[in-house]
Amino acid sequence: MKKIGVLTSGGDSPGMNAAIRAVVRKAINYNVEVVGIKNGFQGLMEGNMIPMEIGSVGGIIQRGGTILLSARSDEFRTKEGQQKGLDQLRKHHIDGLIVIGGDGSFRGAEAIAKLNFPCIGIPATIDNDINGTDFTIGFDTALNTIIDAVDRIRDTATSHERTYVVEVMGKDAGDLALWSGLAGGAESIIVPEKQEDFSEIVTRLKRSYDRGKKYSIIMLAEGVGSGSDYAKRIEEATSLETRVTILGHTQRGGSPTALDRILAGRLGAKAVSLLLSGVTGVMVGMENNQIVHYPIEQTFAMNRPFNEEMYKVLKQLSI
Ligand code: F6P
Repeated sequence: MKKIGVLTSGGDSPGMNAAIRAVVRKAINYNVEVVGIKNGFQGLMEGNMIPMEIGSVGGIIQRGGTILLSARSDEFRTKEGQQKGLDQLRKHHIDGLIVIGGDGSFRGAEAIAKLNFPCIGIPATIDNDINGTDFTIGFDTALNTIIDAVDRIRDTATSHERTYVVEVMGKDAGDLALWSGLAGGAESIIVPEKQEDFSEIVTRLKRSYDRGKKYSIIMLAEGVGSGSDYAKRIEEATSLETRVTILGHTQRGGSPTALDRILAGRLGAKAVSLLLSGVTGVMVGMENNQIVHYPIEQTFAMNRPFNEEMYKVLKQLSI
């Protein structure tokens, strides 16, 4: 293998740049050329590529976003789109591809691997919704962004004795709400994996209020529904003054945390060594602090198990 390509695809996440840096620098260690493919699979089909050298990835380890840009491509979901991408890889004499992204991107990576082109995935999404890794790149940074916001919301919630519904991202997964709920001391969390009875939440809120706790924070995962609707329902059911904060895309930006940078470095380096040793069609991940790899289709074949223990602890601590 003389030349490999790297692209970032789907929703960006903090640490993608650190992963690109790791791929480029690890490959250079083995005298393998790297090309950066701009705009994800869309750019691949268009042949939008740039050579990457040691200096191309200098000073980016601390930067959020992705220097290669990202996109979601409907065309690449089609057989014709995938063939177009493959033709570009061959035309540019690329021998292997590394895809940095989430589950949607991995479907593209799997399609490329099935066309007998060596391809490896690196999990990067704030959602932490991929099987075969304890954490995805960007999750820890997003979590810390949420906590920062929740701490600020708590200040004003306390001053005004209000209830706050904080809506966080996560697509169909509740990890961002669960982890931030535990770290931020939320009174309740609402996640798609556990649709808690609404009346139980109302009872808990009223009970705390009667006990003298005049403010509350409820973390709501976007997969459950609209934070604004939920806040209205809470206010109607409890008569407590309720506000909503939708954190939105603030969760996707910012400088990656040390943990995300380290994860990106380890996964990026491993992806290159696997590709060079002939492994294809897999995703690299980290389980129990060990770097592992699994066939890509396994990573999105089933729902990721929900952390029941954390959920239980949260409920016990938020009395
Ligand atoms: O997958 C990452 C994510 O931020 C999800 O949490 C969210 O549902 C989605 O992307 C938002 O996508 P977009 O940036 O296209 O609005």
